[in-house]
Parts: sequence; C-alpha cells; structure tokens
Amino acid sequence: MGTSIPEQVVTNDDLSEFLDTSDAWIRQRTGIRERRVVRPGTSTGDLAVLAAEGALKSAGSGEADLVILATTTPDHPCPATAPDVAQRIGLTGVPAFDLSAVCSGFLYGLSCAAGFIRSGAAERVLLIGADTYSTILNPTDRTTRAIFGDGAGAMVLRAGHPGEPGELAGVTLGSDGALRDLITIPEGGSRHPVGDELTAEGRYFTMRGKSVYRHAVQRMVESATRACELAGWRLSEVDHLVAHQANARIISAVGERLRLPAERCAVNLDRLGNTAAASIPLALADAATAGALRPGHRTLLTAFGGGATWGGAALTWPDITPVAV
Ligand code: COA
Repeated sequence: MGTSIPEQVVTNDDLSEFLDTSDAWIRQRTGIRERRVVRPGTSTGDLAVLAAEGALKSAGSGEADLVILATTTPDHPCPATAPDVAQRIGLTGVPAFDLSAVCSGFLYGLSCAAGFIRSGAAERVLLIGADTYSTILNPTDRTTRAIFGDGAGAMVLRAGHPGEPGELAGVTLGSDGALRDLITIPEGGSRHPVGDELTAEGRYFTMRGKSVYRHAVQRMVESATRACELAGWRLSEVDHLVAHQANARIISAVGERLRLPAERCAVNLDRLGNTAAASIPLALADAATAGALRPGHRTLLTAFGGGATWGGAALTWPDITPVAV
C-alpha cells in the first residue's frame, strides 16, 4: 500500500473565517477537525502518482499489468487520468482506466481487480483511489466545504493462496440510480453540456446531506453484513471495520448496528475529512501503520457514494508496510 496527502492543512477555524460555520458545529456533526487540500496546480493524477509509487515500493516491485484509478475528480473530463498516471510511474503500455463510483470507487476497484486476477487477465493490479474534492466544491457552500478533503491511496493486488493473509474473502456491490440527485455535479456533463448556459452553482458538487446520511447507514450495514456472509464469518469475529470515512456519526451508527465496539471501527476523518475514493485505502494504511490492523486480522470494508453506489468487502489483513509519499 502507498498513500499521499497534500501538505496544506485547512482547519475548521480556517473555514470559519470565510463561511458561516464553526469548529464546534463541524466537530459535533461530523467529527472532522481538519482536512488536507491541494494547492492550485496540483491534480488528482499528481497525488495518484505519489500513492502509486508508494504502493509499488511497499510491494517490493515496480511491476503491475493493470492500473485502475477510482476517482470522481479526474485531471480532465476527457481522457481518463489512469493512462497518464501509468506512464508517469513507468508502466507505459499496460491497460489503464478510470473507474467512476464516487465514494464507493475503491471497493468497485477492488472487485474489478480481483475479477481480472481470478480470470487470469492480469497478474498484478495497481489499484488507486484518488480525489481532490477541493477542486469541485462551491467555495461558498458550508455544507460541503466542511466535509471533504483531498488525498490518494493505492494498493497492489496479486494472486495468492486460500487462507493466506491478504485474501479477499468476499465482495458485494450495489447501486440505485433513482438516488442520482443525492450527490451530483448537475451541469457540465452531456445532459447540460458546457456549450449551454450554465449556472455558477450547477458546476459545483452538491449533496443532500440528510438523505445521504440515512441511505449511507442502511446500505453500509447491509453491504458489510453481506460481505461477512460471503466470507463465512460471523460479525462477532470481525477484528476491524474500515468504513468509508464520510462522517463520524455514520461510522458509529454503522458500527452500532453491526454490534462492533468503537475500538474496532477505524476513524481517521478527524484529520483528513472525507477523501472520497481515497478514504478507505487511507484509513487502512493509517490503521496498519498505527499497529491496530495486524496480519491475519479479519477486516470488513464498506462504503456508500454518489450514484447511488455502495459496497462491502471482507479480507484478512496482509503482512505489509504501507509507504507514505
Ligand atoms: N456549519 C454550520 N451549519 C451548517 C453546516 C456547517 N458546516 N452545514 C450545514 N449547516 C446547517 C444547515 O444549513 C442547516 O441549517 P438550516 O436549518 O438553517 O437550514 C442546519 O445546519 C442543519 O442541516 P442538516 O443538513 O439537517 O444537518 P445534519 O445534522 O444532517 O448535518 C451533514 C449535515 C452534512 C453533516 C450530515 O447530513 C451528513 O454528514 N450527511 C452525510 C454526508 C456524507 O457523508 N456525504 C458523503 C457520503 S459519500
């Protein structure tokens, strides 16, 4: 695994200087204290390259025969960012594509990577989750500015043996397009193309926070439970829940419904906010680096995101050292 977060820290007090919000409100409603934000000119691809380099270093080899980049904030609307990232890390020629599933992107990518490996179409897959939501947020919208941060996390996957630490034991994914408006950038796509007259607000990311909250808790609980069933585990046997870092209250509601004590539920959003597709790999790497996640630990992942999309995965933690770049 490899990770990369921007140097620039934006605290809740920093936001309160130009938005009608406060450190107390943001902490109490979300659990977030601060987030990392890229400086102008730094792109999602730049963070993805660093995280990918860290992952390849951690894996002990620069080789991969497929690159998947989960992101909703690509460097350009066209083409995909993954081929550029692959070329920049010395993997010119390998297949590379972007995957768009918003905050569930890393779990969608994990399922894709496993499918490529199981079918024999790839041997080593470099999976990256990277997002720079600071580039799509409305600077005047306190409801989104308080929540999101930038970052990237990457993982190298390879074929292994049943029972080997690192085994992906169960994955489940889902979606419901009827919920498309919960999380959206309304304009600038083919339905309202850039040639049309666009509104200033419509080009920015928007979120119906309360509905997202409700659906996120329900779908994350269902997906985590299903992933556990697919792995043949009982929920009581799970060592760690690493849920998408959306909001501390969502994570504790999911943990409570799964009857997992708080100390088994990873939280790093206090320092990073919601980093979208990067949030699960960043939380995994933090928990592993802190020694909370140890080889063989039964680890349950779950996420909910725009689309709406959701997913869950059950894996045993491998014996690796994540590299932060
Ligand atoms: N500071 C101060 N007030 C804020 C605020 C902020 N940063 N953000 C929202 N508010 C205000 C709202 O404008 C609203 O004011 P109003 O009553 O005058 O209209 C009030 O707080 C209550 O808003 P509401 O949306 O009902 O609050 P909430 O308790 O649901 O918390 C979220 C808002 C966004 C924190 C919460 O809904 C949430 O976390 N949702 C999930 C978001 C998420 O995780 N998204 C990513 C999933 S992939």
